[in-house]
Amino acid sequence: MTLTNTITELLAQFTHNNPHGQNRLVYNQAWLRNQQRLLDLGHQLGAQTTVDAVGNIYLDFLGRDQTRTIATGSHMDTVVNGGKYDGLYGILGGLCAIRRLITLKGPPPVTLRLIAFSEEEGSRFNAAFTGSTYLMTHQLPDYLIDATGTSFASARKIAIAQLGHHADQQVAYCTRPTTFTELHIEQGPRLKTAGKKIGLVQGIVAQQRLLITAHGVTNHAGTTPMNQRQDAVKLGSHLITSLYQLAAHHNDLILTVGKIKVVPNVTNAIAGTMQFSVDFRTPSNATMTVFNRQLTALLNKLTDVTIESTLKVPSTCLSKPMLTANIDLAQRLSLPYLQLFSGAGHDSQIISSSIPTAMIFVPSNHGYSHCPQEYTAPEDLVTGIKVLIASLHQQAYL
Ligand code: HGY
Ligand code: MN
Ligand code: MN
Repeated sequence: MTLTNTITELLAQFTHNNPHGQNRLVYNQAWLRNQQRLLDLGHQLGAQTTVDAVGNIYLDFLGRDQTRTIATGSHMDTVVNGGKYDGLYGILGGLCAIRRLITLKGPPPVTLRLIAFSEEEGSRFNAAFTGSTYLMTHQLPDYLIDATGTSFASARKIAIAQLGHHADQQVAYCTRPTTFTELHIEQGPRLKTAGKKIGLVQGIVAQQRLLITAHGVTNHAGTTPMNQRQDAVKLGSHLITSLYQLAAHHNDLILTVGKIKVVPNVTNAIAGTMQFSVDFRTPSNATMTVFNRQLTALLNKLTDVTIESTLKVPSTCLSKPMLTANIDLAQRLSLPYLQLFSGAGHDSQIISSSIPTAMIFVPSNHGYSHCPQEYTAPEDLVTGIKVLIASLHQQAYL
């Protein structure tokens, strides 16, 4: 079967054609079905299958020398109403690459590992990168509570118990790999605009996320005089406008308010609270420092506002030797490539804290991502897999 057919079929098996997009939030039923399916597939393909305490899945194609582990993979979860490729392409494309390499070159001299990280997006609980963070630090954010009041701990334990039936082994945590390479869609327009087929990632932006709550006093919308109100939506919306104005002063920083929750959220009651998310990113740690100082000065002027930091990752440079090696491979494969800095966050920025890490991007049509319109043509998916095959071959067989 051709790589095109294989990746197309796998993506069809691991996604659904819901026009509203994919909703594999960590530990939910859709997420569980895919992780179970991946474990079963790995078993069929002769891998040693493992699940750890946070729900990361590891498919190890064991090498003669098991002291080195060359890994690839990405995250299984999605945003709400997400696309078919973000995360999943890195998992299924990585599996295609490993399988094709073993078919072509025989049993690997060192272990080839596919990782499906449990969660990267932060869509269900207010914490992102929990799967890759667990692999690196063994930290479990069990204290977190989702919008329904379900704890991370209880959702995790129920899911792990069900995954355990599909895995060869269930471990507290897995050994770290020797290197990690993540295949991913670009999630932006640059490759398409430049007419390039491959993106070789130099680094990943610094990213911070906050949950800000504006506090007011709920009261009647019709009988409360305008000068006697404490309207949380009025306070919160002014603050949101100020945040966008502050961000506009930095041409290398982007800011997004994507989630807003008003209580009691009815037309005829003045809002008691308005909670909203703030996601801001920049390739420059220096810009992030300046922006944080300005943000603190702005927030310190306000009394009825509380702030919770839910994510803080620095701007990250990926492995230069692996980047150089992948540039050489792209040139040898006569593939038009672009070196670029990722505006999207990735598990690779967590893994690269102490493991040589590389990322290989393929183009996203119109740059769409985190939406049902996310699309990458099969031939582009295959090109990324071919570069990954060449990189894994170079790392594991030569
Ligand atoms: O939010 C991001 O940049 C990534 O897709 N999780
Ligand atoms: Mn994403
Ligand atoms: Mn992703």
